[in-house]
Amino acid sequence: MGVATGNPITNIERLLSKRSLGVQASGIRRIFDLAASLKDPIDLSIGQPDFPTPAPMKQAAIRAIEEDRNGYTVTQGIRELNDRVRALVQDDVGWGADSDDVSAIISSGTLGALNLAFLALLDEGDEVIVPDPFFVAYPHLVELLGGKAVRCETYPDFRMNTERVEPLITSRTKAVLVNSPSNPAGVVLTRDECADLLNLCREKGVILISDEIYDEFTYEDAREPGLTRAPSPARLPDSLENVLLVRGFGKTYGCTGWRMGFAAGHQRLINEMAKCQQYTFVCSPSIAQWGCLESFACDPAETVRRFQKRRDLVVERLGEVTEVARPGGAFFVFPEVPERLGLTGQQFCEQAIAKSVLTIPSGVFSSRDTHFRISYAVAEEKLQQGLDILVDMMKS
Ligand SMILES: Cc1ncc(COP(=O)(O)O)c(C=O)c1O
Repeated sequence: MGVATGNPITNIERLLSKRSLGVQASGIRRIFDLAASLKDPIDLSIGQPDFPTPAPMKQAAIRAIEEDRNGYTVTQGIRELNDRVRALVQDDVGWGADSDDVSAIISSGTLGALNLAFLALLDEGDEVIVPDPFFVAYPHLVELLGGKAVRCETYPDFRMNTERVEPLITSRTKAVLVNSPSNPAGVVLTRDECADLLNLCREKGVILISDEIYDEFTYEDAREPGLTRAPSPARLPDSLENVLLVRGFGKTYGCTGWRMGFAAGHQRLINEMAKCQQYTFVCSPSIAQWGCLESFACDPAETVRRFQKRRDLVVERLGEVTEVARPGGAFFVFPEVPERLGLTGQQFCEQAIAKSVLTIPSGVFSSRDTHFRISYAVAEEKLQQGLDILVDMMKS
């Protein structure tokens, strides 16, 4: 047996996989390093809500611990929660009313569901079309799992439409990943845009993965008529075979650390994802599953109204000094650094840190470094202070 000798770090370096080494650590780190010395920064960088988890959910999770429901659960999630999710999917998008082919799996966060989807779908070199700008994990996750992330540029309006997606589809494309309302721009696709994407995916025989983690944070002007949610490709007729619906609990109910999400879709794909869950995550956290069962009795409407007011404030203030695509949902805006300043996104964000305001440069989520992301999931007073400073910087 060969025993490795010499410098242990060099040996570890030699052992690390090309896949892991090929993925760059998030560029957010530099921003946080710079911010570490600030005493009480105005933090507009955070991607999680500023409200507590509803009390009934917390109590249900505590009860689960105390009643010794701490063991593994079945792979697809406790029956009570999986049934509730399938009922939601049937009510909301109509899947399951006339077909037994619908299935759901409870996952470890929305990201857990995306992990399982890519594990189930991708062979080495298979392509997934992802938006650019993107949620920071998308391309890296695809590449860690052996796929190739093909970036779909959506500047300047951040709409991932068929005109932009179609030219990127090749014989290796397995999936198109769409995110509406989106992170980092908050853009919500229209029903027609969803229909066109679905038709394209159907025609090309690829899966449309719809990451709808912010679906509850959809503001009045962007909602599907008659609903409180964003348009979804899953809600269109005959979508089951071509759409994988992915949603989460963490953002809506302030419990991102519980790691709770779900995927729903055709049972053939969900069963394959369940097999992958068995050998990776095993199940999502048991106590969080019991906690999230209570979420169906909690109404986020008041929170969403509050966030809509913040969205209006941010768009109004920034509109005075720069280009900004009006977000229809989520809790982010993605303004451009005005060209006249002659700064990259990174340089602008570094200057903002010197004034105690934390935002994230677009280079973290995009091939371009021309914009920056503001999160308005913060107290109104802090948001006002931060906007005063940022608007002032962009005026000069
Ligand atoms: C668009 C998008 N998808 C997925 C995630 C990951 O969500 P979760 O914490 O439920 O895994 C995030 C988190 O910020 C996100 O913005």
